[in-house]
Amino acid sequence: MIGKQIICLDTVSSTNDYIKNNIDTLEDGCFVIAQQQTCGRGRHNNSWVSPLGNLYCSYLVKGNYDRENIFEFHTTTSIAIIKTLERFSLSGLIKFPNDIIVNSKKIAGILIETIGYEKIDYVIIGIGINLNQRDFFDLSSKATSISKEVGGDVNIESFIDVLLAGINNTKANETTFSEYLNKSIVINRKITYNGNESIIKQIKPNGKLVLENSNILFEVNYNEISLSEIY
Ligand code: BTN
Repeated sequence: MIGKQIICLDTVSSTNDYIKNNIDTLEDGCFVIAQQQTCGRGRHNNSWVSPLGNLYCSYLVKGNYDRENIFEFHTTTSIAIIKTLERFSLSGLIKFPNDIIVNSKKIAGILIETIGYEKIDYVIIGIGINLNQRDFFDLSSKATSISKEVGGDVNIESFIDVLLAGINNTKANETTFSEYLNKSIVINRKITYNGNESIIKQIKPNGKLVLENSNILFEVNYNEISLSEIY
């Protein structure tokens, strides 16, 4: 169960780093929340600016996972966030692998990190969701928050309760994967891969993308590409 152990911090460099630095003493399923982060991180070494008022959290899963199965954490966490947003009457979409988009702007991001060599021993799932931020400065055409979309302030504690229920109730199975595909905005979109224009034809359950270029289909791993051209 995720969230049996909950650790609430005022300020931390990054909730993902907090878990990494304390991994031996934290329980499987431990959920760490911070009011703000000084060195919040996103995918591709981007920083995740983390002022007061939004949600910054990470949870730890201990296990013995094949690398091939790690993508299921992307699908389940994305769908759990989308179900939580639905409680606010917001309809979220997924920009592969796990940016959550509302009204064409990013509202949440997920950073999944693993520890282990042949088998994965630890998975750290970091989630940043814009709850109460009103001003996104030079990102205002690309980012939004729940309070910007629906007005009013979001109560962070109640939001966490709904999110945790969503995470615990969203299982890694075919239904969740087809929900993930249904919400995905990248299929049939054009991207540049290795300097060539390709079309994204399919997302596979292991997170590989099937691309098509000059009638040839080939697979790429989700770590190999950035879809910054889409939105
Ligand atoms: C992305 O969209 O690039 C992923 C952003 C993930 C941000 C969250 S905030 C909580 C956790 N701690 C971090 O340093 N990053 C993740």
